[in-house]
Amino acid sequence: MNLKALITDRLEAGLARAGVPDADAIVGPATRPEFGDYQANGAMAAAKRAGVKPRDLAARIIADSDLAGIASSSEVTGPGFISLRLDDDFLAGALGETIEPVGRGTRVVIDYSHPNLAKEMQVHHLRSTIIGDATARVLEALGYDVVRQNHVGDWGTGFGRLVAHLNDTGEDSEALGDLERFYTQASGRFETDPAFADRARQVVVDLQGGDSETLERWRRYIDISMSHCQAVYDRLGVSLRPEHVRGESAYNDDLDDIVADLSAKGLLTEDEGALCAFLDEFKGKDGNVVPIIVKKSDGGYLYHSTDLAAVRYRTGTLRAERLLYIVDARQSLHFRQLFALAREAGYDRGVSLEHHAFGMMLGADGRPFKTREGSGTRLLDFLDEATERARELVQAKNPSLGAAEMDRVARAVGIGAVKYADLSKNRTGDYVFDWHAMMSFEGNTAPYLQYAYARIRSLFERGGVDAGSLSGTPTIREPEEHALALQLARFQETLEQVASTVMPHHLCTYLYDLASAFMRFYENCPVLDSDVRDDRLLLCRHTAETLSQGLDLLGIETVERM
Ligand code: ARG
Repeated sequence: MNLKALITDRLEAGLARAGVPDADAIVGPATRPEFGDYQANGAMAAAKRAGVKPRDLAARIIADSDLAGIASSSEVTGPGFISLRLDDDFLAGALGETIEPVGRGTRVVIDYSHPNLAKEMQVHHLRSTIIGDATARVLEALGYDVVRQNHVGDWGTGFGRLVAHLNDTGEDSEALGDLERFYTQASGRFETDPAFADRARQVVVDLQGGDSETLERWRRYIDISMSHCQAVYDRLGVSLRPEHVRGESAYNDDLDDIVADLSAKGLLTEDEGALCAFLDEFKGKDGNVVPIIVKKSDGGYLYHSTDLAAVRYRTGTLRAERLLYIVDARQSLHFRQLFALAREAGYDRGVSLEHHAFGMMLGADGRPFKTREGSGTRLLDFLDEATERARELVQAKNPSLGAAEMDRVARAVGIGAVKYADLSKNRTGDYVFDWHAMMSFEGNTAPYLQYAYARIRSLFERGGVDAGSLSGTPTIREPEEHALALQLARFQETLEQVASTVMPHHLCTYLYDLASAFMRFYENCPVLDSDVRDDRLLLCRHTAETLSQGLDLLGIETVERM
């Protein structure tokens, strides 16, 4: 049940009956405790429209709305707010509801992770991977048909020197174990060794000409580079698999056709030998339109060309109804141009094209975050460090865990902390990476939520209770029980909010508020030695289930003890 949508429906029906149809009820969680559980602010604007007093209209809306069985009290507060307190039995009845598959039948493409395979995966790809994966999981839980598209950078002239270098080194696993060094070596030779540079340029010609042996070499390099990425995905526990990769090169055969099609549609102009699209909305500072280059004067294609083909593939062949691009904010102009041109060409087929940008990850010094320099895959080393730090943290808290369990907990907490630190911030801003803050058991962190979950599990263990055997609907008595049940009932509306905004931090905030509501309940309402023990145990059980389900949707594991 989407609580907010339900209340909105009822109040808007009331608004219509009160004589103001098509007005927005503007419903949300109450901003202050004295405003109840939910508040609606729409009466003010609607009253203006209807030329009546806001408080009077608010009172009429309440009288005309069917809130029976939902709200236990409704009143006008302030200048004309409607304040609702939800009914205890209604909230109790909503506990344990499964997620409603509101997305069933709708296909959504999510373009995320998409590293450039010439080099190692970079930090901003890590952000895309983490945010994209959580989004994919939430959408899937809501029943959407999610198609993951890992649009890796696997084509372009840069691969000439890499393949040429690979031809010389052979598949020396030592050299290829560190792609960053391999890349630097190849670039260095390209700069200083003219014979090598010639060979590298020939490789580019051969690749573009479709020479099978060269393509095979290139494919080997891609496979090796991709296996490095897969190792990071596996360590992170994200859901990306090789079958989700559809890189730039997958569109090579479509590019001539894209150009022909854009030309036929009158969208291309030749400018100094290059084929460009001039769209009026992209004016530079001098007032001149900035061209979108689709084909270079040397015949080469660019990032835009491939992306146009990808839009056409996703809306046409895949028949997606929404395309989500989880890409850092520096590419905003690229996507604005891409979407505008795709619309002009009709490739969007009227579906929603969305760039969901994110800011940078900064180090404590406020500069772009850097993983440690050195050998090996840097992101893997970084994730190892997270696990080691988590181990120290957990060891201090609970030294009695056995070695195997400690390994599992350290991994769950370490990886969980890295992901959660990223997911819990509004993605549009930059965020400062801070080991201490993210590894803390206090505050809006993964360890705090994982600990809250483990604490409920240990409660069941201490009481010798089998959580699965509890059934029925609890009676709600105390304010802390009410607040907890209310928060539990907001799960669906939160997931739908994440799906529409592609902002996983809403789910993080929700889970943090849930854990906090639980802690308040737990401090004020004894559970095991209470004479309403089963009612309270049911609340505990639903809290544990929602915490673990919510964390799972963020790609974060829970553990039974820590
Ligand atoms: N590989 C690109 C980069 O690292 C990101 C690709 C984003 N997706 C897309 N369809 N353009 O900058």
